[in-house]
Amino acid sequence: DMKGKCPFGGDRIGGSLGRPPTLSDWYPDRLKVELLHQNGPRANPLGDAFDYAKAFNSIDYAALKQDIKAFLTSSVPWWPSDYGNYGPQMIRMAWHAAGTYRIADGRGGAGEALQRFAPISSWWDNGNTDKSRRLIWPIKQKYGSALSWGDLMVLTGNCALEIMGFPTYGFGGGRRDAWEADNSTYWGPEVWDPKNVTSSDSMVTRDKRWRGKNGDGDYDLENPLAASHQALIYVNPEGPYANGDPMGSARDIRIAFTRMAMNDEETVALIAGGHAFGKSHGMVKADEVGPPPEIAPIEAMGLGWQNPEGTGFAEYTMTNGIEGSWTPNPTQWDNSYLENLFKYEWQQTKSPAGALQWTPTDPNAPKTPDAHTPGKMIPLMMMTSDLALKVDPDYRKVCEKFLNDFDAFTQAFSKAWYKLTHRDMGPRERYLGPEKRNEDGLLWQDPIPPCDHDLIDEADIAALKQSILAAGVSPSDLVFTAFSAAVTHRSSDKRGGANGGRLALAPQKDWAINRRTVPVITALRPVMEAFNGKQMDGKKISLADLIVLGGCAALEKAAADAGVEIAVPFMPGRRDTTQELTDIEMFGWLKPVADGFRNYLDEGFEEIAQGVAPEEMFLDKARLLSLTAPEWVAMVGGLRAMNANHDGSAHGIFTDRVGVLTNDFFTVLTSMDYEWKKADAKGMTFSLDDRTTGEQRFTATRCDLVFGSNSQLRAVAEVYASGDGHARFVTDFVKAWDKVMMLDRYDIHLQDLHG
Ligand code: HEM
Repeated sequence: DMKGKCPFGGDRIGGSLGRPPTLSDWYPDRLKVELLHQNGPRANPLGDAFDYAKAFNSIDYAALKQDIKAFLTSSVPWWPSDYGNYGPQMIRMAWHAAGTYRIADGRGGAGEALQRFAPISSWWDNGNTDKSRRLIWPIKQKYGSALSWGDLMVLTGNCALEIMGFPTYGFGGGRRDAWEADNSTYWGPEVWDPKNVTSSDSMVTRDKRWRGKNGDGDYDLENPLAASHQALIYVNPEGPYANGDPMGSARDIRIAFTRMAMNDEETVALIAGGHAFGKSHGMVKADEVGPPPEIAPIEAMGLGWQNPEGTGFAEYTMTNGIEGSWTPNPTQWDNSYLENLFKYEWQQTKSPAGALQWTPTDPNAPKTPDAHTPGKMIPLMMMTSDLALKVDPDYRKVCEKFLNDFDAFTQAFSKAWYKLTHRDMGPRERYLGPEKRNEDGLLWQDPIPPCDHDLIDEADIAALKQSILAAGVSPSDLVFTAFSAAVTHRSSDKRGGANGGRLALAPQKDWAINRRTVPVITALRPVMEAFNGKQMDGKKISLADLIVLGGCAALEKAAADAGVEIAVPFMPGRRDTTQELTDIEMFGWLKPVADGFRNYLDEGFEEIAQGVAPEEMFLDKARLLSLTAPEWVAMVGGLRAMNANHDGSAHGIFTDRVGVLTNDFFTVLTSMDYEWKKADAKGMTFSLDDRTTGEQRFTATRCDLVFGSNSQLRAVAEVYASGDGHARFVTDFVKAWDKVMMLDRYDIHLQDLHG
């Protein structure tokens, strides 16, 4: 009897299955530091050194588009095209890929092709996008690693628009696929039975993300969320709670699309433009279709929503549940969506699947051809969310403008589609291919004009460091300012960062957290002007560069004062942008509610955070800076050694040698010589008392203590606190510092540092 003896005996299920219960089941509130290491290089089969830009640029782009367009008007037996044209379903695939974007944290979007992975792959709203992706697999296969899924999905959407007579505005390649599901994005509080989520279940799931803080529980959506329900990416097409109320739907749409960074005109252009094409599918009751891809049977090979009715496709297709088309010619760009929406009155009806939808009251209204049966004609359809554009007074105004001016509509949709699908790609330097657009006018790209001068050399850098240190600004202030310039960067949508010199422009210059940078910038300007004024040969330094260089100069001095000679890398080439090229409202979204790096909590923190702890937001910021746990820990140790607190407070400054790059932060943090006590009722600040004398030695916040209390962070802190830890700390800190300063330098590294 081998029972209990052989570890590989059949009676033992695997020891590393990660089945619940796991850490997060036992301790749901633990700080999930491991999220920093998501989608790391070890998950990437192409390897770290793979140069996507080079590979993409090697493609015969015209031939690629030809291949896509030829496919679009074909049809395969396992999923025949509606109207003999895959275009509409590909537009929807591309739109759903991009439409997860939310401006609050920059997450979502088409950039990493996350539609391939759960949970996104399996949301009800993404029904049958699995078929769309599988249909274009032969094209993906042909071009291989030179064409990412992210780029292919968006480009297929563009090609679809083009073959149906729509002039696209442009296409930029450069999306790097993720290689695993993203577990670090908060999509909302809903937990449901994933086998059983349909559009009507959203009645149940809607509530939890709406807070009612402002007295209106239905229209107060939790940040950073942009969707009114998780499994429905944007809004319920049947209206809130599937109640068929177009006005309520308009309110949902405005919230969802504003969070997606779209204004009213863009919103109308996108919805009215998108629904000029294709149809909705609702031939079978929702509860008859099989489970979504993530949990479908193994033999479904990654496809979900198996439909048992008839063939399960073509005239039997069941996707959302609403059935029918918006226009008489669903494969042609024209203005008939808006024309019919306004020309006819619409009455409620039900689809075969039982979904609430609308049809013209006038029996003589135009009809639309059946997608599969030649000669069969069907009444037009509108969704409650389409009628929203007609009943909401502001949307209506935009509709009327587009109704009277088809060219204006075409142009607005063209530009809004470009924005939608490129919104999360960051600066234009990241765009690849012959169809990228180069003008400065697209404010959502946070433009920075090109460099119009020569860059400084090593001798200039050395001289400038001396001038900065002689300008009467403390090293602590210089480090704070450089860090404040860089820390706005977010790897999600690649916005923010030191490039552009926007720290000196509104709104950043006016944020409370940046108050300490204002006199520093005032002191740096004359240094810049003196240097630039002296140059005969067109050489210049930008303010953006000088701010970063100030930090580097201060840190070299601080390291030397701590007995470590180290060069802090500096790469010139940052450019200054202008106030006109800065969208103040859209930059407002980068303003932190909390920033542990600079020990900052917004005045409204508790109201906004609603129970989320400062250290959790700190972790989120570290993740958006794409720091690893060791980089995060080293970074904070260095910032505390320099006292880079926003208000210069003593919290976390566990040293008597401020401005010297010691590892005191870590030795104190790990020492049992001190006792830590809450200094306020809520446990936001702490007193650090000498155990023998009882005297207060230091004070701290949660964003200091977390490096000693959290086991994973403490493990790293111990390394830096150790006897052999100081030099390692200085080296690691300088590396992390340089990484943060360079995060937005896509002019230097076209490769992403991190997915
Ligand atoms: C189809 C809802 C915005 C493009 C659909 C379907 C629904 C829907 C329920 C039917 C899916 C199916 O059963 O096959 C909505 C809602 C929107 C919205 C509620 C926002 C309020 C957009 C936007 C675009 C778009 C912004 C593109 C710019 C399309 C296309 C189809 C479609 C092309 C047809 C797909 C096909 O023929 O297979 N939409 N949509 N939609 N949507 Fe939207």
